[in-house]
Amino acid sequence: MDALTTRKKVWIQTFGCQLNENDSDKIYRVLGRLDYSATRDPAEADLIVLNTCSIREKAEQKVFSLLGRLKVHKQQRPQTLIAVAGCMAQLLGESIRRRAPYVDLVFGTYTIHKLPEMLREIENSRDSAGSGVVAAAELNQADFDFLPLQPEDLLHPGRSRNLVVENVTVQNGCNKNCSYCIVPKVRGREISRDRQEILAEIRLLVSRGVREVTLLGQTVNSYGRKTEYDFADLLEDVNAIKGLQRIRFTTSHPRDLNEKLMLAMANCDKVCEHLHLPLQSGSDTVLKKMYRGHTFNDYLQKIRRLRELVPGISVSTDIIVAFPNESDQDFAETLEALRRVRFDSIFSFIYSPRPYTRAATWSGQIANTVAKQRLYQLQELQAAITRDYLHKDLNKIVEVLVETSNKSPAGLPTIKHGRCLTGRTRNNRIVHFDGCESLIGSLVNLRIDRVLAHSMQGQPVNQEGHKRRQYVH
Ligand code: SAH
Ligand code: SF4
Ligand code: F3S
Repeated sequence: MDALTTRKKVWIQTFGCQLNENDSDKIYRVLGRLDYSATRDPAEADLIVLNTCSIREKAEQKVFSLLGRLKVHKQQRPQTLIAVAGCMAQLLGESIRRRAPYVDLVFGTYTIHKLPEMLREIENSRDSAGSGVVAAAELNQADFDFLPLQPEDLLHPGRSRNLVVENVTVQNGCNKNCSYCIVPKVRGREISRDRQEILAEIRLLVSRGVREVTLLGQTVNSYGRKTEYDFADLLEDVNAIKGLQRIRFTTSHPRDLNEKLMLAMANCDKVCEHLHLPLQSGSDTVLKKMYRGHTFNDYLQKIRRLRELVPGISVSTDIIVAFPNESDQDFAETLEALRRVRFDSIFSFIYSPRPYTRAATWSGQIANTVAKQRLYQLQELQAAITRDYLHKDLNKIVEVLVETSNKSPAGLPTIKHGRCLTGRTRNNRIVHFDGCESLIGSLVNLRIDRVLAHSMQGQPVNQEGHKRRQYVH
């Protein structure tokens, strides 16, 4: 038989944040070394992996509902292995198998590199009823490994993205302990990855055609905390990598956004003019109860300074509504914060009580009807601000890094062939245009001629787009 037809197939569904997505890539890489290939069809998979998230209760419900559907599949195709990975696996461990006994493997955020051993163990015990492996209970950081990328990993077909933009994890865990957040519980204490390893990985990616990297960490800008080499130093070293065109990073914490980092953002020509900086609430009372360690005014002053140093920078944020005891006045202050900062975009969430977090034990939980109403009001206000920003770009020429070619989204009549190219501006706006696929990976200048709800459409032009500003000292 042909070797290719004997290859096992894996299907991974990712539920969480970019770190979780990055972990799915690592799972593909580890499995690629075991000669698994990726499939888009879960029905034909030999191994199904659900890479899960615990950030809000809803995220967990989605996983259990998919597991319910997989139960039927497993009855019809018992040889399929089902694995639950990621933060929920880390949090719930063995209890996932109690609720869904047909799950063969539960492995947490720190055990990806042990996957080959775990799969062998399952294969060896296949015939015994109720067998299964759980490797999630402990956050054993001694075992943790950032799993350096190997050149062959880049060739294997399970990679979730094209080879133009890539994520690189530089830090894992979080030391902040916000009162609502489960991340420190599921990801453990902050660890910064060795800088030489990071730089080597980015060089390798660039040698294979990657043009933009996003440096990832839960509080990425606290990279290297209390050492001599901090995140600003890392940005400068990444900026010096030849062939790389753009650098992004996420997620930053307001407390770790200092003058040195802002200057590095201003002076590194490859660092894009966009910052995602979660605010969470505009009320100092709420911020205090969230243990965020900053006031609204601290936040605003930093954004003002940043906008001075990096003109045209777009700023996005995360907001939680209906935190315990959030009053109408507190919420009004959040709305006011949106008007004052004028974020380019926001991600907004209804507070969800999480196990092992302090806020979950507090009285004053807000009724769901009130929470939904607040979320709606917040999103309406932001939609108007976002629309305003996008309209300001009409007729401007922007520089876009072309990332993908897709089916044309609805409402783009000027894209003739039913397919369109999509890329992002330096300040993180999505732009669609009509063009040849060979442009994927290059920088093109587009004149914006149409604004959609969350993106824009443009036409190629020969003139130069947004030019990098002068250096700041
Ligand atoms: N490390 C990042 C993001 C963490 S999770 C940071 O510190 O900002 C992404 C977002 O989910 C958070 O910014 C927060 O807005 C939201 N979030 C976290 N826990 C939540 C909870 N219990 N309920 C609702 N939203 C939550
Ligand atoms: Fe969670 Fe706060 Fe850490 Fe972000 S900084 S991951 S919100 S504890
Ligand atoms: Fe979710 Fe884990 Fe990310 S809880 S947000 S997948 S770190």
